[in-house]
Amino acid sequence: MYKHLVLPLLFNMNAEKAHGFVTGILHFLFRIPFIKSIFKRLYSFEHPALAVTVAGLTFKNPVGLAAGFDKNAELVDIMETLGFGFVEIGTVTPRPQPGNEKPRLFRLKPDKALINRMGFNNRGVEVAAARLKYRQSSILVGGNIGKNKDTPNEKALDDYIYCFNKLYDFVDYFVVNVSSPNTPGLRELQEKGPLKQLLTAVQQLNAAQPAPRPVFLKIAPDLTMAQLDDIVEIVLETKIAGVIATNTTISRSNLKTAASAIEEIGAGGLSGAPVEQASTDVIRYIREKSSGAFPIIGVGGISSVAGAKTKLAAGASLLQVYTGFIYEGPGLASRICKGLVKS
Ligand SMILES: Cc1cc2nc3c(=O)[nH]c(=O)nc-3n(C[C@H](O)[C@H](O)[C@H](O)COP(=O)(O)O)c2cc1C
Repeated sequence: MYKHLVLPLLFNMNAEKAHGFVTGILHFLFRIPFIKSIFKRLYSFEHPALAVTVAGLTFKNPVGLAAGFDKNAELVDIMETLGFGFVEIGTVTPRPQPGNEKPRLFRLKPDKALINRMGFNNRGVEVAAARLKYRQSSILVGGNIGKNKDTPNEKALDDYIYCFNKLYDFVDYFVVNVSSPNTPGLRELQEKGPLKQLLTAVQQLNAAQPAPRPVFLKIAPDLTMAQLDDIVEIVLETKIAGVIATNTTISRSNLKTAASAIEEIGAGGLSGAPVEQASTDVIRYIREKSSGAFPIIGVGGISSVAGAKTKLAAGASLLQVYTGFIYEGPGLASRICKGLVKS
C-alpha cells in the first residue's frame, strides 16, 4: 500500500513539505488511543534473538532511525511502534537555527536517493530535552549533537559541551557529529588535532558524570584511508564507545539521475543507494584496522534485509536507516528484523 498509494502522493509534494506532512499526520493519528496498538501490530516485530548489547546498552533490535529524521525529538514514541530498536534525535545545536534556505531537500528517484543541505535546522537542544523528558516509550535514544552555524570552529567545543549537559539526563548515548557537509567548516573538525581535542574534552566531562554515556563519533564516507587511520587511533586513545559510519557523501559519482538535474540541485549530502557501498567500505576498513576493538553503527543506503546483512557482515553491530525508510515505507524496520531472525 505504501509504494502504490502513499509514496506517489508524498512524492507529488515538495520533499521537505512531505516530511512535515507525515510528521503532522503521525502526531494527529497517535492522539487516537487505539492507533498505537494498530501500528504496533502492523509494524513491530519482536523476537529475543534480535536483542543486542552494544557499549553496555541492550537494544531490543539492531535497527535504528538515523539522525536527521527526528531533529527535535518529536517522534520517539511513534518510531517505537514502527519497529525501530532505537532512535537518534538531532542533530541539535545549543541555539535554535533555521538552517539553509529552501529548497534544501531533493529526491533522486531513479537512484533511490536524496540530496539535502538542511544545515542543522532545529529548535535548539533545550526544546529537544524538554520533549524527551516526557517521552513514554522505553526505546533507547541517542542524542546527536553539533555546533551552531555561527559558532567558529575554535569555539565548537563549547557548543558540544552545552548540548551534552542539556541532554545528559534524557539520552542513552551521545553522537558527536562532525561530518555533516552542510555546516561550513564542520568537517574540518574530523582532522586529527581538533578531533582529538574535542573528543578528549567530551570524554572528560562524560567521565565526571554519575553514569557516563557511551559516546559515538559520526564520520563522513568521504575520508581518506589516512584519515580513517587517524580516527581509529583517536577512538582508541580517547576511549569513546565507537563510530557511526557514515553520514551523507559529497560525491556525485555513478548516479542515474541526469547530470543537468544534479547540477541544478547543487550542494548537499547525498544519501540512499548511491552511498551504500562507500559506507560499507568505511565500516569494513575501520573494523579491520581496529581489529574490532570498538562497535560500529552502520548507516548508509540500507533499504533491504540483504543490505542490512551486508553492513553486519562488514563489521557493524547496529544499523540505522533514513533514506531507505522514505523509499520503502514504515514496514522497513520490521522487515529487516524478520529477515535477520530467519537467517
Ligand atoms: C534530510 C536528511 C537530514 C539529515 N540530517 C542529519 C543530521 O542532522 N545529523 C546527522 O548526523 N545526520 C543527518 N543525516 C544523515 C543520516 O543520518 C544518514 O547518516 C545518511 O543519510 C546515510 O543514511 P541513509 O542512506 O540511510 O539515508 C541526514 C540525512 C538526510 C537525508
